[in-house]
Amino acid sequence: MKLMALTIILICNYATGQQLKDLRMKDNLVIAHRGTTFWAPEETEAAMRWARNTGADYLEFDLQRTKDGKLIALHDNKLDRTTNVAVIYPDRKDNPISDFTYLELLKLDAGSWFNREYPDKARPGFKALDILTLEDIIQIAEGKRICRDKNGKRLIAQLNDGQISSSYEQDPKDNGNRPGLYIETKLPELFPGIENDLKKELSRLGWYCSDTLKLKNIPVDKDKIAIANTKDRIVLQTFSLESLGKLNICFAKYVPKCILLWRGNDAGDILNDDINSFRLHILKGKENGATIAGPSISGKPNNYTNLLTPVHFEILKKEGFKIHAYSFDSEEQFFQYHDLVEGMFTNQADETLRLSGRSKGEITNHNVLKDLGY
Ligand code: G3P
Ligand code: CA
Repeated sequence: MKLMALTIILICNYATGQQLKDLRMKDNLVIAHRGTTFWAPEETEAAMRWARNTGADYLEFDLQRTKDGKLIALHDNKLDRTTNVAVIYPDRKDNPISDFTYLELLKLDAGSWFNREYPDKARPGFKALDILTLEDIIQIAEGKRICRDKNGKRLIAQLNDGQISSSYEQDPKDNGNRPGLYIETKLPELFPGIENDLKKELSRLGWYCSDTLKLKNIPVDKDKIAIANTKDRIVLQTFSLESLGKLNICFAKYVPKCILLWRGNDAGDILNDDINSFRLHILKGKENGATIAGPSISGKPNNYTNLLTPVHFEILKKEGFKIHAYSFDSEEQFFQYHDLVEGMFTNQADETLRLSGRSKGEITNHNVLKDLGY
């Protein structure tokens, strides 16, 4: 009888998520920066489906909020670089994201700029791409895709409360990987309360709960990327110490938080070159709940300031940080820095996986994008 009761408890626990592994966390993470900026239009469905099927551990993106409160993924605070806003809304082309409703944003083409900018990497399927929501990216991570008509336009419904809702279907090209989400609150000072909005949306979709037993169970096949079905399914990142503090209040301690590091003169930057400024900055990050630090690294093509010199490394390790550095875009950078870090933001997850010995190079940008129909 006791054995039967124990079996029933075990079965119940399995069904409610008790089985979730606490990875705490892998030490060779491949984090797909904006999905990819290299092979497809950044932060679009093509970039995220590519990153999932390529085998990245996390899909990275930048969170902003529309005028009507929808949480969307976009790096720049303006639309002119990565959409045709100048054609569709010429009088508002320089306006910030928060000036547009979600329905207005959906009218924009977020893919054709890539074909013009990189003709050697252009694909017909990029033309119809639109701006993604947080929910879209969660669905992609779960193996689905957005329902679209034959022209690639997404199918939407307007609900009674005016909210726009999309529909999703099992992705016929899904190969079973279930990556986590690495979410940056981008320019959070422009979006008061976005940290709490993020918590609400992740909770609604089953991706966050303070009680980990109540997290949505996302089945994963053996030998596939399985982070979406662990407690580490969400990592939160920000350059802003203030936003980090708010994330630390909104989310339970088990959700890893990363303080991004950048030497510059804007809000959230490390304002001076001396190592003491660096130390004080990361200590504030630690006080506000960060256990991961995200320094910029040197090297082509971005030639960022190197915040991962031996001195920086020593301080970060002394303070107990894991290091997820950005961004790994070349073989030289990989060999210079990969031994120092536990995670790599990369625009070429295929190459980073190959260099890490996690793939034999059989997954290429070309065959994955072609298979996905772009
Ligand atoms: O999130 C790591 C890295 O994405 C920070 O740079 O400007 O690409 O958001 P950025
Ligand atoms: Ca980012």
